[in-house]
Amino acid sequence: KTAEWEARADLVVVGSGVAGLTAALRARELGLRVLVVTKAAVEDGNTRWAQGGVAVVLDGEHDEGDSVSQHIQDTLAAGAGLCEPAAVSEILHAGPAAVSWLIQACGARFDPGENGHLARTREGGHSTFRVIHAGGDATGAEVERALVARAGGLPVLERHIAVDALLTPRGDVGGVSVLDPDGVPGRLRAPAVLLATGGLGQLYSATSNPEIATGDGLALALRAGAPAADLEFVQFHPTVLYTPGARGRCPLITEAVRGEGAVLVDGAGRPVMRGVHPLGDLAPRDVVSAAITRRMAGAPGGIDDHVFLDATAVPGFAERFPTVFAACAVIGVDPREEPIPVTPAAHFACGGVVAGAGGRTGVRGLYATGEVARTGLHGANRLASNSLLEGLTGGIAAAGAVAADLARGLLADPSRARERERVFPVADRDALQRVMTSYAAIGRDAEGLAVAGSVLDLSTKDSQRKTHRMVEDAALTLVAQALIAAAARRTESRGCHVRHDFPGRDDESWRRSQLIRLNPSGQ
Ligand code: SIN
Repeated sequence: KTAEWEARADLVVVGSGVAGLTAALRARELGLRVLVVTKAAVEDGNTRWAQGGVAVVLDGEHDEGDSVSQHIQDTLAAGAGLCEPAAVSEILHAGPAAVSWLIQACGARFDPGENGHLARTREGGHSTFRVIHAGGDATGAEVERALVARAGGLPVLERHIAVDALLTPRGDVGGVSVLDPDGVPGRLRAPAVLLATGGLGQLYSATSNPEIATGDGLALALRAGAPAADLEFVQFHPTVLYTPGARGRCPLITEAVRGEGAVLVDGAGRPVMRGVHPLGDLAPRDVVSAAITRRMAGAPGGIDDHVFLDATAVPGFAERFPTVFAACAVIGVDPREEPIPVTPAAHFACGGVVAGAGGRTGVRGLYATGEVARTGLHGANRLASNSLLEGLTGGIAAAGAVAADLARGLLADPSRARERERVFPVADRDALQRVMTSYAAIGRDAEGLAVAGSVLDLSTKDSQRKTHRMVEDAALTLVAQALIAAAARRTESRGCHVRHDFPGRDDESWRRSQLIRLNPSGQ
């Protein structure tokens, strides 16, 4: 299909959540011509749904008894042996300056605490109270609000979906092909493209993620030849609000509720986390989700599909957690009086496009930051509230990297970049979500993963027609295939990757990430 329209920039940013907008704003501050392309409205990404907060030690090494070193230790422990310590250290040390920029330059307002400090809460895997928050449990909404307010005058193409990378004859990225809101194809030419497209929760039937989280950026990067890693590590949040037969986005019940004293109990009122981990209800997220899943499977009289979060002893619940309180009210539950029905749901991709310093990927001209990127911060399981921080620090670093690479003349002339003509395999979305939920969620085995792969193959058809929905479905299909392959190969249990047939952690064979790479024709 011939492109009908074109635009040019120094940097095209794909996505408008915390990572994308931060990068775009910083790139503009550095004098670059930036164009943001986002497939819904500018504020519609995953960021605004984040509740708990931003994990950060604001006062350098020593902050009310906390330290960046301790934050690093907690991150490494949660990551179950697969974090890259250098990346962890770099990102967490960059946190305080990034948060100061968000507050001072963008006007983000975090909840105040005592003695002129910000209030802090605690979440799973954190050894202390270090998570700053806004609006009680509406931190992502405030972060997004502040960034969007700062983005006045920034060119943003809303309701445009990025389809594929434009590649030079040498295989460098020189822009992206897009569909406008009416499905008319266009080209955005730029020597640098930054993917900040977020996650892939829509691979599963129930997720904390909104409709837009369909793995588009990861699929685009794979088709452009960029390596990805750690795809098997999909984090399931222990507590989304349970309603019978729920599908799609389920309201999150922030871990901070447990940070403020709530306790997980089963249908008989027995504590779920007793004796499971020294941190009890505040164990790392993978441990809690797996424990809930085991408890549900072992319910008397068959498998249960939820447990309960007893928050009746949390003081001032409605004021401290207004978002959660409102979500519970919709189903007629008052958390001050009764336990909240909860269940684990797909939440965060710990892996993604392999991105080094400044978000540089394995393909020249292609950068990745935020959830779509695999920086080495999360390893096999992300520490709670490290993701908004990663988006902020990564966005700032990526803007700097693009500016530096442009100044050094390292990037390709985008004039000759073209999209590769290709067929997109597209699976039926319902079938895909069902098999991923049944066989590639918490608790996998070789047989189930093989079934998932076959069902996916059988429900997949080749498509050349491109609509917004098909671009998303093609992304979900490719990402599901890559995830299933990675999960089948990792013959151990580690972090978010739980195998029934290999229940132990195998440090001898598996203390390493698995790289996945397609050739740029997408095969
Ligand atoms: C939460 O508030 O529990 C979610 C925070 C996160 O995913 O880091």
